[in-house]
Amino acid sequence: MTITRGDRGALIERLLSIMDQKNHWAWPKLTKPGLSRAALAAHFRHEFHTYVRDFPVLLARVLGQGPPADVRIALAENLYEEQTGKLSLGVPHPALFLEMIDGLGIDRASIEDPSIPLEPEALAYRAMLDRVSASAPWQIGAAVLTIFVEGSVHERAELEGTRNLPPIDEAIRAHPMVLHYGCPPERMRLARAHRAVEGGHRRDAWTMLLTHVPPEGELADAIVHAMTEALTLWQAYRSAVARHLA
Ligand SMILES: [Fe+2]
Ligand SMILES: [Fe+2]
Repeated sequence: MTITRGDRGALIERLLSIMDQKNHWAWPKLTKPGLSRAALAAHFRHEFHTYVRDFPVLLARVLGQGPPADVRIALAENLYEEQTGKLSLGVPHPALFLEMIDGLGIDRASIEDPSIPLEPEALAYRAMLDRVSASAPWQIGAAVLTIFVEGSVHERAELEGTRNLPPIDEAIRAHPMVLHYGCPPERMRLARAHRAVEGGHRRDAWTMLLTHVPPEGELADAIVHAMTEALTLWQAYRSAVARHLA
């Protein structure tokens, strides 16, 4: 995906420098062997409740604010795929996530059960996602959800078209949950669905913002502010979950 920077460059750079920091010191623990099933369950339970289960709902709230027609199309396509999977494998992404949980031999109830408490920092991060998705201007909710939440530390490479991924079967075989934790490759269909559609989601995310946000000014500043807040809350959330990974 290559997006011409043009006069939007300053805003792109401000947002990319935030995404460069969407990395947490404890993340490598999840790529190595040695974690207990309880630790894995704690990690996945938090991911499920902070954004995996309700990502389509959060996108729908931004759509519900009535953004311009091109943005409605991009958000509707994204949310249709996330909630139905019908542009890829025909299974909703949250359901594909739970397939991986099955593959790991973790009881789904230990992930889904809403009565198991979440770390307060996770609730604070989620509260921010609820707030920005439900309030104007739509550009802030769209940025936080489609760039911060859906994007990754690899956003700069994605945008520059320099992210070279191995073929999907190879990537799944090398996935830590397969390699170290015994998840059968056929239970990793979430990775397959993401490979099929996520490039489009990344491109749409940036196009929406760059089309509808002047590169400088109050709105650009407000977006950078919200993205920075999302990063701070996400870092705190990941540190809280890291307490389970000791
Ligand atoms: Fe997804
Ligand atoms: Fe997506």
